[in-house]
Amino acid sequence: MKALVLAGGSGTRLRPFSYSMPKQLIPVANKPVLQHCLEDVRDAGCTEVGVVVAGPGQEIRAWLGDGSWLGVAVTYIPQEAPLGLAHCLRIARDFLGDDDILMYLGDNVLAGGVAEAAAAFRRDRPAAQLLLAEVADPGQYGIAELRADGSLAGLVEKPAEPRSNLAVVGVYLFTPEIHEAVAAIEPSARGELEITDAVQWLLERGRPVLGSRYTGYWKDTGRIDDLLDCNRVLLERLRRRVDGHVDAASELLGDVVVEPGARITRSRVVGPAVIGRDTIVEDSDIGAHTSIGNGCHLQLAGVSHSIVLDGGSVVAVRGIHGSLIGRSARVRLALQHRLFIGDDTSVEVAA
Ligand code: TTP
Repeated sequence: MKALVLAGGSGTRLRPFSYSMPKQLIPVANKPVLQHCLEDVRDAGCTEVGVVVAGPGQEIRAWLGDGSWLGVAVTYIPQEAPLGLAHCLRIARDFLGDDDILMYLGDNVLAGGVAEAAAAFRRDRPAAQLLLAEVADPGQYGIAELRADGSLAGLVEKPAEPRSNLAVVGVYLFTPEIHEAVAAIEPSARGELEITDAVQWLLERGRPVLGSRYTGYWKDTGRIDDLLDCNRVLLERLRRRVDGHVDAASELLGDVVVEPGARITRSRVVGPAVIGRDTIVEDSDIGAHTSIGNGCHLQLAGVSHSIVLDGGSVVAVRGIHGSLIGRSARVRLALQHRLFIGDDTSVEVAA
C-alpha cells in the first residue's frame, strides 16, 4: 500500500500565515503538522509516500528532502492549482500504479495514528474505507450515514439537517478502483474534483464502501483556533525533559520540555509547554499549553496557550493568550499603537 499525503491547497482560512509558508509546516507541540502525518503513514506500514505540493513546493522539499530521516521514501507530486482532493489522485496516478492507497490530508492530526484502520482495510479490502469521528456540530462537516454492518449508506457535505453525527476524517483508504471513479467525475460548483463525488460514484455502482469509527483525538488544523487546540492536546502527552539551561531563580512546573541550547533566566514556565532550541526566556512567565519555537527571544513577556514560531520575539508585553506568532515576528511594548499589518491579519487590542 502506498500513501498519498496532500500538502498543497490554498489555506485561505490560515491567512496570513499561509501567504508565507505552507500551512502543513506550522508546528504543533514544536513539530510540523505534516511530520505528525508522515509518522502516522510510516507507522501504518506505508513507506512509499507521494506528497502533493502546491506548485514547486520548495519549502516542503527543503524541509522533508527525500524523507529518509523519517523512514519514508518521498516522491513529490506538484499540483499547479488546488483543484480538489480527487484531482490529487488524478495527478498521482502514475506514482500510485496498481497499489492500494492510504490518502491522508496533510493538515489533519490523528493523535491515535491510522495503523488500526490500515490493518482493517488490508484485511477486508473494500473499494473505499472512510474514517469517521463523532462531532458536536455535524452541520460543519462532510457527514456519513452508516448501516449497522459498517457499510456507508450515504455521504452529505455540511448537511442542513444532519442524519448522523459521524464526520469524515481526513484519512481515506482505497483500492485502485478509485481511479475509475476519479476519472469519471466532473468538477463541482466550486470548480474542484471532490473526493465525496468519487466515493458517491462507487456507492451508486454498489461497490463496497465501509466506514470505520475513529475514537481518538482528531483535528483538521485548517484554522488558528484548531491549531491551538491541537497544540494543547499534543502538549498534554509530553513528559518533562530539560536539556537546556535553567537558572536557580527560575521555576518549571509540571511537564516542561526545554530543548538543548535554550536558556531560561528569572522566569516561570508552567507545563505542559515546550521551549525550543537556542531560545532565550528572561524575566518572563510562560503559561500552560504554550509552544515556543527555536531561536526565539522572550524578555519581560507573558505568554500562555499560544504558539510562537521559530525566531519570534516578545519583549515587554504580557497577557498574550490564544495567539499564533509567525516566524521571526516581533512583538514589543510601545507607548502608542503603531501597527504594520499585512493583508488578512487579525489584531485584537485589549482595553
Ligand atoms: P483543505 O483544508 O480542505 O483546503 P485548503 O488547503 O485549500 O484550505 P482552505 O479551505 O482554508 O482554503 O485541504 C485539505 C488538505 O488537502 C490540505 O493539506 C491541503 C490539501 N489539498 C491539496 O493538496 N490539493 C487540493 O487541491 C486541495 C483542495 C487540498
